[in-house]
Amino acid sequence: MRYIFNMELLLEQIKAIIDEDLPLISNLSNAAAVLNQLENINWCGFYIKVKDELYLGPFQGDVACTRIPLTKGVCGTAAREKKTLIVPNVNEFLGHIACSSLSKSEIVTPIIKEGEVKAVIDIDAPVFDRFTKKDQELLESIALALSKLF
Ligand code: SME
Repeated sequence: MRYIFNMELLLEQIKAIIDEDLPLISNLSNAAAVLNQLENINWCGFYIKVKDELYLGPFQGDVACTRIPLTKGVCGTAAREKKTLIVPNVNEFLGHIACSSLSKSEIVTPIIKEGEVKAVIDIDAPVFDRFTKKDQELLESIALALSKLF
């Protein structure tokens, strides 16, 4: 199945599926399925912060690395710096963790509640330079919507 959704549609869908009566894992699992409808991506999902490490959470795509220290990778850097990172070419990001040789570019946005990083959203694309500033704004809105679940 080929998907053609843009980030704007995903934001609306994620707001619609969030159910605060459900456990976190149920909400994040469906949120990962919504994110996977984005056009031209090969992996999307969550890493959850526990102490000083990120652990693999609900995702869609190939088998991925299960733990990322805050000192490593795009995910660890975004969590440590508490900001979104757009990486147009993963080969040029020092310390990038290559889970899949398909991934060429990525965006990682932290989910922050009361000043604390709770998780990150990671989306990988099979093409260079896939993600825009507009995608960043919308993914940050998605992260904000999800932050109330933590
Ligand atoms: N890209 C990440 C690793 C996780 S995988 O892409 C699923 C990173 O370098 O932090």
